[in-house]
Amino acid sequence: MDRTKIILDCDPGHDDAVAIMLAGKSPKIDLLGITVVAGNQTLDNTQRNALNVVQCLGLDVPVYAGCGQPMIREKMTAGDIHGKTGLDGPVFEPLTRKLEPEHGVNFIIRTLMESNDPITMVTTGPMTNLGMAIRMEPRIVEKIQRIVLMGGAYTNGNVTPAAEFNIIADADAAYVCFTSGRPITMVGLDVTRKALCYPSIVERMDKVGNKASKLFVDLMKHFCKSQKEVFGWEGGPLHDPITVAYLIDPTVLTTKPMHAEIDIRSTQSYGRTNCDYFGYQKKEPNADVAIDIDVEKFWNMIEEGLRLYS
Ligand code: RIB
Ligand code: CA
Repeated sequence: MDRTKIILDCDPGHDDAVAIMLAGKSPKIDLLGITVVAGNQTLDNTQRNALNVVQCLGLDVPVYAGCGQPMIREKMTAGDIHGKTGLDGPVFEPLTRKLEPEHGVNFIIRTLMESNDPITMVTTGPMTNLGMAIRMEPRIVEKIQRIVLMGGAYTNGNVTPAAEFNIIADADAAYVCFTSGRPITMVGLDVTRKALCYPSIVERMDKVGNKASKLFVDLMKHFCKSQKEVFGWEGGPLHDPITVAYLIDPTVLTTKPMHAEIDIRSTQSYGRTNCDYFGYQKKEPNADVAIDIDVEKFWNMIEEGLRLYS
């Protein structure tokens, strides 16, 4: 079976960690590398978190540090959700895994330029690394099979009423990606807020009884607690792994072609993904925007993903 080649660009982040877990052992995914970006926490934290996750799960996947700053705006983080380390909760063994020496942006450029096979870019953090790669080497654009991102919303944001974190944290990078001309699947808050990790889900995954399920439970204990404190959710919305689930089985999502523009000009709506749901503007759609999720199928995929680990 042909596996989908992906580069996973992320800002671990509790939900990014689950995305790594889901991609790491899937028979349908060829995880070429993980590139890390500042987002949920500073790059020092997110890169360490990514290494801890791949080490804990025993994944032989190279990890590259990317950009520690957005392209233009000032840096923002999400410590209220992910904690001071960016992955508060789990206690990891002493870290022995090392970063690759190559910069994450250079890894993205080199891998795409050298590949004869299509590669899907999956981004679950601010899109700085991909945006910078596209600007540094425009020839990679035609080599990108599809950009599958967790980010944005055609309804309300989660940082401002208009904007979601991954986009507002580097709206300029998102603008570069959304205007690249490549196929885009946008997994926004509109569907991720339906994948709430209730205590019953945590209990279900705990029963898998392996190192991956223990990591999942330890992650969710913190993630769900902070989501309840900040948003009042009874379960944390497990945003990022939905991108990987979509690549494993696209029927997990219902998408709708829309013209989506990133607002980098206004003040109150800066960072909004303006998605023309009804096609008012008669502009060519540039994104398949997720409008619904099969939540039961998603949690089944998470459990199946956990069971692939020893
Ligand atoms: O808004 C949710 C997104 O921002 C998720 O990717 C989360 O990990 C943070 O990066
Ligand atoms: Ca993330």
